[in-house]
Amino acid sequence: MNEKQAKIEQLKKEKNAVIMAHYYVADEVQDIADYIGDSYYLSDVATKIDADVIVLCGVSFMGESAKILNPDKTVLLPDDSADCPMAHMATVERIEEVRREYEDVAVVCYVNSTAELKTCSDVCVTSANALKIVQALPNKNIFFIPDQNLAHYIADKLPEKNFIFNDGYCHVHHTLTAEQIQAAKTARPTAKVLVHPECKPEVTALADYIGSTSGIIAYAKQSTASEFIVVTEMGVMHELQKQNPDKKFYTAGNMQICPNMKKITLDKIITALETNAPAVNLNEEFMKKALAPMERMLVLSK
Ligand code: 13P
Ligand code: SF4
Repeated sequence: MNEKQAKIEQLKKEKNAVIMAHYYVADEVQDIADYIGDSYYLSDVATKIDADVIVLCGVSFMGESAKILNPDKTVLLPDDSADCPMAHMATVERIEEVRREYEDVAVVCYVNSTAELKTCSDVCVTSANALKIVQALPNKNIFFIPDQNLAHYIADKLPEKNFIFNDGYCHVHHTLTAEQIQAAKTARPTAKVLVHPECKPEVTALADYIGSTSGIIAYAKQSTASEFIVVTEMGVMHELQKQNPDKKFYTAGNMQICPNMKKITLDKIITALETNAPAVNLNEEFMKKALAPMERMLVLSK
């Protein structure tokens, strides 16, 4: 254990804190996490944590979700400028407009969204449970915010539903093209292609497996294939290599990096634990309203 890791261990004990991390954060941050997973796992585990302080190593919407699910705990986000641009790519005004237009509409909110958007939504989803949850909803009309690509992926599988699309996207995934995936396939013809559903339909069309970060990691582990093209943010490579030292993982085209996830460092975690800041603070009324769609997600995804 190096000096910084030892310091974090000591502070965790002093503060009765746990560290939660997403697979896209830097490798050394993943290595000190008590809990690591995809967005669904992080939300679910947040309801079961017995600690006074949660250090959320990820982007703001993840910190906000942990706080909404644990209003009495201190939730620290080691860099509060680590934000997901897509989380802001829908508006309350547009939700209200769609609600006026379609009487029976369900507003389905990808968890990659601000707490404000959650307060006006009917149910939250993550990439791991969106299909199951939307399928289970009684509503025919579905307004899916903010991600257009996850919405299209689900809509294609549920022709009985009428989707109203929103034009949000993740810049890390949306910029990948079918040509890049084709080129990677040509270079590694036996490799399986693992794709996150935030990619465009032309990219998911070329996948052998489509799923959340945890889904991608689980697929690679159980697969008999020995080579994989990984079409998501490069942080997942760390866990993929750890779990599968004899398998080979390749990127498609340029390295896909989420600059906001990479803002979380060991030094910032130490400072957060020492100073109890930056902490996630949300208005109580607001948190109550945002909790309902989050809890509905946790129930419907079981
Ligand atoms: P997962 O829920 O699959 O981990 O994805 C979160 C995310 O931010 C994808 O860009
Ligand atoms: Fe947001 Fe994309 Fe980064 Fe995920 S990878 S946190 S969706 S910007």
